[in-house]
Amino acid sequence: MTEFKPGDRAIANDAATIRDAAGGAIEIGIVLGSGLAPALGASFTRTAIPYARLGSLPFSPLPGHRGEALVGTWNGRRVLAFSGRVHLYQGFTPAHVTTAVRLAKAAGASSMILTNAAGALDPAYVAGDLMLIADHLNLTGHNPLLGDAVEQPFVDMADAYAARLRAIVRRHATDAHRLREGVYAGLLGPNYETPAEARYLRTIGGDAVGMSTVLETILARCLDMEVLGFSLVTNVVGAAETTHEEVMATAAQSAPRLADLIEKTLPEV
Ligand code: HPA
Repeated sequence: MTEFKPGDRAIANDAATIRDAAGGAIEIGIVLGSGLAPALGASFTRTAIPYARLGSLPFSPLPGHRGEALVGTWNGRRVLAFSGRVHLYQGFTPAHVTTAVRLAKAAGASSMILTNAAGALDPAYVAGDLMLIADHLNLTGHNPLLGDAVEQPFVDMADAYAARLRAIVRRHATDAHRLREGVYAGLLGPNYETPAEARYLRTIGGDAVGMSTVLETILARCLDMEVLGFSLVTNVVGAAETTHEEVMATAAQSAPRLADLIEKTLPEV
């Protein structure tokens, strides 16, 4: 009893545009968090398609988010990378923030690599560390599976961030990558955390905190995609005043290490 939903036709059209640009079906979708796009090297042979040319993708520019789909081949895999994501805190709906996942799936992707900038809750973490997301806490109060958004909303989340993919990443990581592994707490934002909220998040099992990713993971699992997630640790929560400028600058510095680790992992995703 699936109805044809508004937006489905735009996604199908955009998926066709993307497959044409890529020279075939996409294998892997990537959402690039703040600062990561400029770190993508020349080994990712790509065409940039502005979101304005893709009717399905909502977009509102933020510093560090460009608003284009990068389509091409990276280390032998056909990739669709989203440079620019929209967030709940900008006023977008769960459907908007997960459109990229739907589009990647429609273009053929069977896995998603989700990246973000995050604040550390684990006091052992240092700004500049990378965190492989082992699991998440969805504290946004939102969900992309509500209502009639999907046919089967009762999605198992036990292996949300695929153990298979995490093992591959760990194998490729060297000390120079500064890879940690932990639980990502996804909040609505946009303000940073109060000291009491930071203590609470740590108590309930969070290692890093941010304002994205969790809804994308939920929809990707619903669509039977494997998910790999990374946080770029841009600040340690509570250590000093947190500013957006500092978050952006640290993300830009760490981005080449994350791009390198993703590149090495791609052939086995
Ligand atoms: N809190 C929430 N989101 C963030 C942070 C933070 O400290 N740093 C980067 N994104």
